Amino acid sequence: MASLRLSGWSCLLLACMLGSVVRSAPTYETLYFDQKIDHFGFYEDSTFRQRYLVSDTHWRKPGGPILFYTGNEGDITLFSNNTGFMWDVAEELGAMLVFAEHRYYGESMPYGNLSYTDPKYLNYLTSEQALADFAVLIRFLKGSVESKDSPVIAIGGSYGGMLAAWLRIKYPHAVVGAIAASAPIWQFEDLVPCNLYYQTVTNDFEKSGTGCAESITKSWAAINRMFKTDEGIGWLSREFHLCSPLKCQDDAAAFKNWLSETWVNLAMVDYPYPANFLEPLPAWPIKEVCKHLRNPNLDDKKLLQNIFQAINVYYNYTGITPCLNTSQTAVGSLDDLGWSYQACTEMVMPFCSDGVTDMFEPQAWNFEAFSDDCYKQWGIRPRPEWITSMYGGKNITTASNIIFSNGDLDPWSAGGVKQSLSDSLIAIIITDGAHHLDLRSNNANDPKSVIEARAMEVAYMKKWIKEHSQQVNGI
Ligand SMILES: *[C@@H]1O[C@H](CO)[C@@H](O)[C@H](O)[C@H]1NC(C)=O
Ligand SMILES: *[C@@H]1O[C@H](CO)[C@@H](O)[C@H](O)[C@H]1NC(C)=O
Ligand SMILES: *[C@@H]1O[C@H](CO)[C@@H](O)[C@H](O)[C@H]1NC(C)=O
Ligand SMILES: *[C@@H]1O[C@H](CO)[C@@H](O)[C@H](O)[C@H]1NC(C)=O
Ligand SMILES: *[C@@H]1O[C@H](CO)[C@@H](O)[C@H](O)[C@H]1NC(C)=O
Repeated sequence: MASLRLSGWSCLLLACMLGSVVRSAPTYETLYFDQKIDHFGFYEDSTFRQRYLVSDTHWRKPGGPILFYTGNEGDITLFSNNTGFMWDVAEELGAMLVFAEHRYYGESMPYGNLSYTDPKYLNYLTSEQALADFAVLIRFLKGSVESKDSPVIAIGGSYGGMLAAWLRIKYPHAVVGAIAASAPIWQFEDLVPCNLYYQTVTNDFEKSGTGCAESITKSWAAINRMFKTDEGIGWLSREFHLCSPLKCQDDAAAFKNWLSETWVNLAMVDYPYPANFLEPLPAWPIKEVCKHLRNPNLDDKKLLQNIFQAINVYYNYTGITPCLNTSQTAVGSLDDLGWSYQACTEMVMPFCSDGVTDMFEPQAWNFEAFSDDCYKQWGIRPRPEWITSMYGGKNITTASNIIFSNGDLDPWSAGGVKQSLSDSLIAIIITDGAHHLDLRSNNANDPKSVIEARAMEVAYMKKWIKEHSQQVNGI
């Protein structure tokens, strides 16, 4: 479980609120399941070991529910560590917890260390194959006398939330419902405006300090002016304490992308208490960042020195980062490489900015350029319409029992379902919530909105469990 770095008093308060003494660290078993590399064809017949974690401390046997985390793009322990919600509710629901690793991440490599070396080995890295892994694993988990009547509920955050929703849509016999936290299932084609994502980030910076978003808006032109001379380029490398110095004007785009990603990541993890999801950070990190960006009307060097102080809140909060690495935006175990392949195949998400309604440099969505980059990096080209053909886009009202939760601070809420689509496709908006805050552990600093969201999620899970038990018992 994520560590709670609280003062002694808050700890006491938290213990009171939970009505319990300090709980011991959660225990789980690490297990492996042999999965077919290709579920949908018969020529590639080999298998790989999929890792999954199981905690049955609170499981009510027989027939108690199984909460199944649909792993996303990273080491599965990153998600078991950051999904305290499941650990918090296990006892109340009498549930077994399962965290299933997504193929091609963590230890679940279909072709071992060759998996990423050639497009022919990467060919089986798709959401459909991952969902099939989950469905097959769930069938196996339900194979015992004790579990055969257990209702399974899919839970996931971010891409894992998309998978949870899609698992319920595609395999309704395998899971009775899904909690899809911060799941941008509509960040495809033109289902949502492509600039909403960056606008959401901008709103967070605007409300976290005067002059903050404006300083960032102005920084792009200042950076461009710096890149005009070798002196400027050298100055930037030194002032930003870069591990590898910028060399020429061609490095400008990558440098600015890195800054943009940093601002976006901050919006994702703008949590109300210290946390360590992408990087170790203080409570409300954007407020800390904005303390350095109060004055947008400075000369270029002063403005950019402030920008450095601001991003250093993100990269060097612990004070142990010797230099900043512009090819990295997170120390956590989210796997950028795997996701970049997925984005270049199925997960084509259009983003754009205009520099007016947002604080970023204007950039149109250019599918052709994106496709060319993908071809260069991976030797394959994306299929932007496949995901919506596969999962229905906005036409999903034939599905049922899915909760879509989104925090209003989270850039990914832009592509999320923010209004209920039926009486069992429920949208929950979490005011002052960042990226899947509801899946994190209870915390004394939680806003009321997330406490209410979690209570609703538990109430719906209980409803699904009860309906399943009535069905099993023929009532
Ligand atoms: C999850 O937490 C465990 C125990 O604290 C730690 O060993 C492991 O490295 C963490 N996983 C990740 C991906 O951070
Ligand atoms: C993969 O691992 C094997 C055995 O550990 C090693 O011999 C081989 O060189 C590795 N291949 C690559 C591409 O890393
Ligand atoms: C990080 O903080 C430490 C301690 O203040 C400092 O010595 C170091 O230079 C900082 N790193 C960067 C990249 O600024
Ligand atoms: C910077 O990050 C890249 C990508 O993670 C890594 O390969 C490289 O070694 C890092 N450089 C330094 C100096 O840490
Ligand atoms: C959803 O329905 C609309 C209206 O009928 C249609 O235009 C659209 O193509 C459908 N989307 C998908 C992915 O089938």
